[in-house]
Amino acid sequence: TAQPDPAGSATSAAAPAPWKPPADPMPFPPDYVWGTATSAYQAEGATDVDGRGPSIWDTFAAVKRNIRGGANGEPGADQYRRYESDADLMSDLGVGAYRFSISWSRIQPTGSGPVNQAGVDHYRALVEALVRRGIRPAITLFHWDLPQALQDAGGWRNRETAARFAEYARIAFDAFGDVEADWFTINEAKTHAFVGHWFGVHAPGLTDPDAAAAAVHHQLLAHGLAVQAFRASRAKGRIGIALNLLPAYPTDPDATGGAERVDASENRLFLDPVLLGSYPSDAIGPYPGSLPADATAFEALQLPGDLEVISEPCDLLAIQYYGVTGVDPNGNTVEIAPTSAATWQQIRAEGLYDVLTRLRDDYPPIPILITENGMPDPLPAVTIDDPYRVDYLRTHFQQAARAIDDGVPLIGHFVWSLLDNFEWAEGYAQRWGIVAVDFTTQERMPKASAGFFSDVIAANAVSP
Ligand code: NOJ
Repeated sequence: TAQPDPAGSATSAAAPAPWKPPADPMPFPPDYVWGTATSAYQAEGATDVDGRGPSIWDTFAAVKRNIRGGANGEPGADQYRRYESDADLMSDLGVGAYRFSISWSRIQPTGSGPVNQAGVDHYRALVEALVRRGIRPAITLFHWDLPQALQDAGGWRNRETAARFAEYARIAFDAFGDVEADWFTINEAKTHAFVGHWFGVHAPGLTDPDAAAAAVHHQLLAHGLAVQAFRASRAKGRIGIALNLLPAYPTDPDATGGAERVDASENRLFLDPVLLGSYPSDAIGPYPGSLPADATAFEALQLPGDLEVISEPCDLLAIQYYGVTGVDPNGNTVEIAPTSAATWQQIRAEGLYDVLTRLRDDYPPIPILITENGMPDPLPAVTIDDPYRVDYLRTHFQQAARAIDDGVPLIGHFVWSLLDNFEWAEGYAQRWGIVAVDFTTQERMPKASAGFFSDVIAANAVSP
């Protein structure tokens, strides 16, 4: 049963309060980081070159019915070959940082053992292309493309995978740590655990809540071990974990239990161990809104010292924000805001403010970076005119500025995504870029939102 939790007080008892921007432009701090983001399997293509080993996404996408249109990571946005001109594109937009991920199986084709130098060379070339243009690398170590050989050994169900990850992280810190960069250990551990191990919609395609719970703990352990490896290395820069947070608003302010459980499994299951060194007691179990795994088995995975490792202090907290959810008294999620073409996304910019101020109020102070924020076009076709995305970005930038005014230590904001790319189970049918990509010619065409973003960056301020 649920125990009172020190961080459990924050779910507001209503939908986010509507807010009107001030008449004057809202400025950002002088050193505020403006960035764009992609990930390896989504953007690179070139899945079969230079010694890259297979990942679980190659395996999963090889089963045609798993992905809309039977698509896979080829061609992606062909960034493996086009990184130099993409760096020019970012330079034209004026972005100060680029968040990309390293494909583990390019560095270690079987997830352990010797380094594949061609893989290291590729990311070295990308990093240098960025640095030459004054763009800060923001490097994600794991964005869901686990080497298949590690999956064959149990994947994230297996504690050993955390140790393998720490070894791979060490290789990356040694190879690129001479460059001033931001590092993110694990991208959206929740999505990978829940959607990949419980819903069966992402690789590795499991439908087992206990596997999802194990994937939560072992990814968090991997995170902590990598932070320790970072401290032990001579790598420059900062490190953190990228967590996707979802504010959950009770539809009935007098019956908030369902929303509290959703908050526990969606947010506190990840925030509390990393920032407080403890798991919430009400995230896992046979309750509506919880991760329906065996709580005793989850506890048994936790060896003495694990939570100390997981809560190894980070330099920053990376958060990814897409929208909100309502929750009825029974813990069922319900719509309280308009959805985008991604049906899981209920758009409400004020939710970002609520997430940020909640972090300020419930957790120890830590610099916060928004490492993903964005929305897809309504149609799968190349789209240049995207007023809805301009509006989305404007309102979310405003909420970020509002949070900074209210004392949130927010240091930057990355838009997802730089480019239209492979949107996982949606294949190429959901376009999230501020730059459109013709997947046949690989031509890049900036959308209206790219122009808008560029103007915000130049002004370092957002207008009403
Ligand atoms: C979060 C993931 O990190 C990213 O890979 C994905 O494309 C976006 N959300 C949009 O769904």
